[in-house]
Amino acid sequence: MKLARTVKEVKEQVREWKRQGLSVGLVPTMGYLHEGHQSLIKRAVTENDRVVVSVFVNPIQFAPNEDLETYPRDLEADCALCENTGAAMVFHPEAEEMYGDGFTTFVDMTGVTKELCGKSRPTHFRGVCTVVNKLFNIVTPDRAYFGQKDAQQLAVIRRMVRDLNMNLEVVGCPIIREADGLAKSSRNTYLSAEERKAALVLSRAVFAGEKMIRDGERDGEKVLAAMTAMIEAEPLARIDYVEMVKWDSIEICHQIDGPVLTAVAVYIGKTRLIDNFIAE
Ligand code: PAJ
Repeated sequence: MKLARTVKEVKEQVREWKRQGLSVGLVPTMGYLHEGHQSLIKRAVTENDRVVVSVFVNPIQFAPNEDLETYPRDLEADCALCENTGAAMVFHPEAEEMYGDGFTTFVDMTGVTKELCGKSRPTHFRGVCTVVNKLFNIVTPDRAYFGQKDAQQLAVIRRMVRDLNMNLEVVGCPIIREADGLAKSSRNTYLSAEERKAALVLSRAVFAGEKMIRDGERDGEKVLAAMTAMIEAEPLARIDYVEMVKWDSIEICHQIDGPVLTAVAVYIGKTRLIDNFIAE
């Protein structure tokens, strides 16, 4: 497996693969890889001849008050996981390589970015769209893999690819969880032992809400009220949002008459965690 640090190296390698008629899959990540990321890489390896995993903590998707500086990093472990899972290349650029040279162009979006994380993190998706667009141009993948863990991000990337006529397929992959239900996340490492227990309130609320809809509840307000009450009962939890939107236009809705995304963002202590389910 090759570790590339420059755009030039990636472009040269991809050009060679394409010359050989090989298909290329891309898994964009911010590193500190766990089994959630690994499930995307595994799927990409089964569907493409060569897989590139990008490991880049993208500064422009973090607001000044967020955790850019403390975001966990372990390149050696990430490379080992990528190699063992069958990736052909890890792309790990410095911020300067991505945003040096008087960078001023951004990809912005309206509509799908208005609610949920777009509301509490107003500059976040502009940063995500810009970096993902750059990665698509650098790697020119046939397919790119994104987790439903970040469901709004998946909807945003799908929208961007459709709107800007990009030549690739976006593949969505299911949420991978710990044995007790907590959605796997690089940010789970921030949690103390006590907070780790409290964090289970997210998946408990998600499973309860999902069951209500599967059991026939059509009133979204009731589902959201039940989930909110469960989360509020946990003293270490502070709700950022508990919302229901249409999948995948991300418009607020409270009647379940088609696929809906029910998403939560909750602070456990200082750590902001997200979880969700899609149901109809
Ligand atoms: P990151 O948080 O590292 O996640 C990389 C990819 O892994 C995303 O598509 C995310 O949805 C997926 N993922 C994370 N945890 C998962 C889980 N428990 N189950 C399934 N998939 C999971 O998302 C980003 O990085 C960045 O915003 C990025 C797209 C790389 C742009 O910088």
